[in-house]
Amino acid sequence: MDVREALHARRSARAFTDREVAPELLTRALTDAAYAPSGGNIQPWHAVVLRGQSLRTLVDHVTARIHDPDAPPPTPVFPVYPSPLKSPYRERRFSNGEELYALLGIPRDDRPARFRQFDRNFRFFDAPVALFLYIDRSMHQPQWADLGMFLQSLLLLLTAEGVDTCPQAAWAIHHEAVAEVLQPPPELMLFCGLAIGYADSTAAINRLRTERAPLAEWCTFLD
Ligand SMILES: Cc1cc2nc3c(=O)[nH]c(=O)nc-3n(C[C@H](O)[C@H](O)[C@H](O)COP(=O)(O)O)c2cc1C
Repeated sequence: MDVREALHARRSARAFTDREVAPELLTRALTDAAYAPSGGNIQPWHAVVLRGQSLRTLVDHVTARIHDPDAPPPTPVFPVYPSPLKSPYRERRFSNGEELYALLGIPRDDRPARFRQFDRNFRFFDAPVALFLYIDRSMHQPQWADLGMFLQSLLLLLTAEGVDTCPQAAWAIHHEAVAEVLQPPPELMLFCGLAIGYADSTAAINRLRTERAPLAEWCTFLD
């Protein structure tokens, strides 16, 4: 699979089978992803990979926290989207959500069902492997871009190995509950989670195919 094929084959999976991902495959993909470029080659990424009992412990803790009526409301580590989200980004995000819930047959006014689906984020959609991606709090915008390049490299490498993924900024909401379990060094802040495994091809949600805005909408050529 060449890079272009991997780019087009990759898509976010939101339901996984319980098939394990071979540890050596994961190690290889992570090692190779670190060949992503970074300004000054500072390689600002930090990752924690969870499987088996460590993953179950994390998910149980966060789930208990979400359903604890006495727990204080979570304070997201950063706002996941600007508020308000301006056009055309707002419309793109809206269509993405509508298409996803339509596949599941969840109507717009069924907020409890939408919340239940959203909360599946916090079980990593039942993926057998989970990764948390962290960055040092002192870093600036260029280093966040480095993190994005690392993440995309990892996604493509895993795609080329036949492994499915879903990056999840939703974890920014529950970063405190995650920290209670993982106890990361205080200088690290959470960027996102990543569900890793084999997509359940029978799950309706995995039929979602996203489009992209045409080139002319976002690119200008000057001669
Ligand atoms: C940084 C980042 C964060 C994301 N966060 C979430 C998330 O929290 N939950 C989710 O279901 N999908 C999440 N996604 C997946 C996007 O919704 C998805 O990439 C987009 O709709 C395009 O679809 P595709 O990945 O199938 O091409 C995230 C993607 C990225 C790159």
